[in-house]
Amino acid sequence: MERLHSDLADFVKKNPSTNLATRIHILYDVSKGLRYLHSLTPPLIHRDLTAPNILLTEDLTAKIGDLGVSRYVDPTVPTILSTNPGHLFYMSPESQEENPVYTTKLDIFSFGNLIIHTVIGDLPKVYRISASDPNEALYKREGKIELMRRNTSVHVKMGEDHTLYPLVVRCLYDRPEQRPAVEEVSSSLRELCHRHPRMAIDICYYDALYSCSHSWKHTRLVMWVWFRSYWTVGLIPTRLMRRITELLFAGPVRMDMMRW
Ligand SMILES: Nc1ncnc2c1ncn2[C@@H]1O[C@H](COP(=O)(O)OP(=O)(O)O)[C@@H](O)[C@H]1O
Ligand SMILES: [Mg+2]
Repeated sequence: MERLHSDLADFVKKNPSTNLATRIHILYDVSKGLRYLHSLTPPLIHRDLTAPNILLTEDLTAKIGDLGVSRYVDPTVPTILSTNPGHLFYMSPESQEENPVYTTKLDIFSFGNLIIHTVIGDLPKVYRISASDPNEALYKREGKIELMRRNTSVHVKMGEDHTLYPLVVRCLYDRPEQRPAVEEVSSSLRELCHRHPRMAIDICYYDALYSCSHSWKHTRLVMWVWFRSYWTVGLIPTRLMRRITELLFAGPVRMDMMRW
């Protein structure tokens, strides 16, 4: 795989003002990748679908990475896998059982959590042990939530009126068979993409932000967008615009991104 721009965890943390349309488009890309993995014969279960394992290109196209713990699983035969991979927050209830049986719905549960992570920009800390554990007070002080309560707690944080909330709830059903298949997840997201079109300006904005390194990032960006608006209507020739871009960002902002 080629070297990509950033991973999704890093991106949402560093860009808290990312708009909803961009987040939805990223999630839609991930669902398309997952649809491919689950459509293989036998299906390939990723088993570690987390934001750090989603890589982003410069134009914010998302790609699924880190297939290190993925497994082909025959859907007609219950498959028990001994290892219990992945990040605790993303792990489904069935993977916590003694002899966990894995299906593609394991990834759907993780996808529900991936939506939450992408929307709220961070990962709630969770702990596994029961509420009667003597360390409970300590965990609470550290801001952690007990594993079995993670979903309810996150629902509150995301907000029940959020556009993505109904999809999250369905992905996070405890019983795997109640969760939607990836095709359904993907088509729901495609529909949301149509309702929330991503503007080219969003892409250029992040591209420019990543390309510059000094503290007055924002001022330069505002100036650049201002020059750019003149360039788009033909008042500034492309060669000059290229020069302005180089001066402002001390490095090339991809000119092929400059079409809107
Ligand atoms: N192709 C890539 N381009 C850019 N960054 C990458 C790429 N592959 C991995 N990374 C970065 O390295 C981190 C760890 O890589 P990963 O493949 O997930 O290995 P592991 O989780 O097993 O250590 C990712 O979260 C990402 O930030
Ligand atoms: Mg990884």
